[in-house]
Amino acid sequence: MARCIPAKITGVAGYVPPRLLTNQDIEKMVDTTDEWIRSRTGILTRHIVDKGTATSHMSVEAVKKLLAQTHTRPEEIELIVTATVTPDMMFPATACLIQDRIGAKNAWGFDLSAGCSGFVYALTVGMQFAGAGTHKKVLVIGSDTMSSIINYEDRATCVIFGDGAGAVLLEPAQNESEGVLDFHNDVDGSGGALLNMPAGGSLHPASHETVDKKMHYVFQDGQPVFKYAVRRMAEVAAMLLERNGFTGRDLGLVIPHQANLRIIRAVQERLGVDDSKMLINIQQYGNTTAATIPLGMMDALAQGRLKKGDLVLIVSVGAGFTTGGMLMRWAY
Ligand SMILES: CC(C)(COP(=O)(O)OP(=O)(O)OC[C@H]1O[C@@H](n2cnc3c(N)ncnc32)[C@H](O)[C@@H]1OP(=O)(O)O)[C@@H](O)C(=O)NCCC(=O)NCCS
Repeated sequence: MARCIPAKITGVAGYVPPRLLTNQDIEKMVDTTDEWIRSRTGILTRHIVDKGTATSHMSVEAVKKLLAQTHTRPEEIELIVTATVTPDMMFPATACLIQDRIGAKNAWGFDLSAGCSGFVYALTVGMQFAGAGTHKKVLVIGSDTMSSIINYEDRATCVIFGDGAGAVLLEPAQNESEGVLDFHNDVDGSGGALLNMPAGGSLHPASHETVDKKMHYVFQDGQPVFKYAVRRMAEVAAMLLERNGFTGRDLGLVIPHQANLRIIRAVQERLGVDDSKMLINIQQYGNTTAATIPLGMMDALAQGRLKKGDLVLIVSVGAGFTTGGMLMRWAY
């Protein structure tokens, strides 16, 4: 069992850009149908940025709301961990851009790349500092502008992804029974070839050739990714419950990564919980990569489905492969 340093989430906020990309819009772009997209993924719409809006901009919108809502001054933030696979630039880190724009002059920060598990990993990192008491207020952000790396001529990927940002405030917990109770993260790098963006890094720096070959777009071999996600999300979710002496009946809410409605339903079945305990918003946002779980928390709070003391499970699989899960007692 992962030994947990007591840390808790004390605020959640999110942002999605106003522009919608519907299944009907996509029907006009590639050879697909609304029926196929709904039945194979569960997705109806996604939010997409306008040109010139990047991951830092969406993140700043989410963080501004978070600071206002939690009555936190920017100078009180001591650490910013930003999970993203779509940073504004290769460097500096998006966390630095956010730090500057929100005026968090006492914070350090960095980006973390773990695909769709990015938010769970970033939360795991952030809680080490909040829980140790060295950092009293930590910002953990999950934010991705997937539309910047999607080939809108590739029907296998363009139907899935959307843009969005979510942010949470992490603070030291008062005791070990509130906030994060346990987590499990792991990596299976043999899955790297199945989901990636081949060019733009040091292996294939940007060139005319990489652009001509469309190597700056997401490549995904959907079926094996799907199978891995179903298996590992269900296994990790069940394992976290079991080793802490809980069953699905104890859960207040499961907030799974929103990659495909069929994956989410498989996790639900494994846990044996009814719809009231599953947060599902993939219909609206599609897969926003690192943003799905904080956006799920945001929606759950807005719907009155997250209350102090609730047992909450978050779980994700992403490019890498990365897997992450966390069990917590909602603290506010
Ligand atoms: C991508 C995904 C939705 C595809 O669904 P699928 O049921 O696995 O579909 P397949 O890839 O097996 O393709 C089945 C058929 O549909 C076709 N197809 C693929 N995308 C299509 C689309 N948008 N519209 C219509 N047909 C499509 C394929 O070409 C294939 O046709 P064929 O049988 O003639 O070859 C699914 O594999 C998935 O969700 N994978 C995991 C995604 C994920 O979680 N990614 C992020 C990591 S967290």
